[in-house]
Amino acid sequence: MRMQVKNISKSYNGNPLYSDFSMELSEGIITCILGPSGCGKTTLLNIIGKLITPDSGKLTGFDDKLFSYIFQDPRLLPWKTVMGNIEFVLSRNLSSEERKNQAERLIRLVELEGFADYYPSQLSGGMRQRVSIARAFACPSDVILMDEPLSGLDIALKQNMIRWFSKIWKSDKRTVIFVTHDVDEALLLGNEIVVLSQAPARIVAHENINEPVGNRSMEEPHLKKLRQLLLNALGQLN
Ligand SMILES: Nc1ncnc2c1ncn2[C@@H]1O[C@H](COP(=O)(O)OP(=O)(O)OP(=O)(O)O)[C@@H](O)[C@H]1O
Ligand SMILES: [Mg+2]
Repeated sequence: MRMQVKNISKSYNGNPLYSDFSMELSEGIITCILGPSGCGKTTLLNIIGKLITPDSGKLTGFDDKLFSYIFQDPRLLPWKTVMGNIEFVLSRNLSSEERKNQAERLIRLVELEGFADYYPSQLSGGMRQRVSIARAFACPSDVILMDEPLSGLDIALKQNMIRWFSKIWKSDKRTVIFVTHDVDEALLLGNEIVVLSQAPARIVAHENINEPVGNRSMEEPHLKKLRQLLLNALGQLN
């Protein structure tokens, strides 16, 4: 099924970020929205998550959807442990045993066994972000909205984070909308990549990647070619 953003417009102080903008999103895949800083990616995610109302236009196919977020900063509850943060968002319909099992499974998937009783202040930034990934999947949401959760991490940590995210997503293929300005992140994680222009945003490229998420190498000729294409679309190629 498709979810659609239809003919939306949104301006701030007379500057149009979106003007009659439309896009479609597929369920059960990772859609990367790639665009330059300030083009309105966070605003679009917030419109989709119903945190912001557009000036005009509408969303269809989103009515009954529940959202969970992964932000750039992990935003964990500091007074709850790793286990507590994850259990907190699990469905209330689960028995206490099921809650424990699910939380433990997610903690294992992000390789934080042994840290379940730690508080966020006792973890590194990367470990906190892993908890926030596990928490987003613990939440019984239909759609996970990710706003540049990898920016600010060093390359090695970013690669590991992509590995942890891919592992958890493969075990639960939730609809994900992932916003980034980093071409390589989009190439490693996206099933579809939508490139936005500077504001007012237009879609300047829309690509599909068939190679499975989690098993991709930037050395693959197809991905190298796609990288050039996306950089061109972003206007970053010298
Ligand atoms: N609440 C607001 N009030 C006024 N202007 C806003 C508001 N929210 C966003 N803007 C403006 O809209 C533009 C787009 O913002 P947005 O945060 O959506 O961009 P972005 O693509 O997410 O950028 P980045 O990649 O830097 O995170 C910016 O120029 C910003 O100043
Ligand atoms: Mg942003």
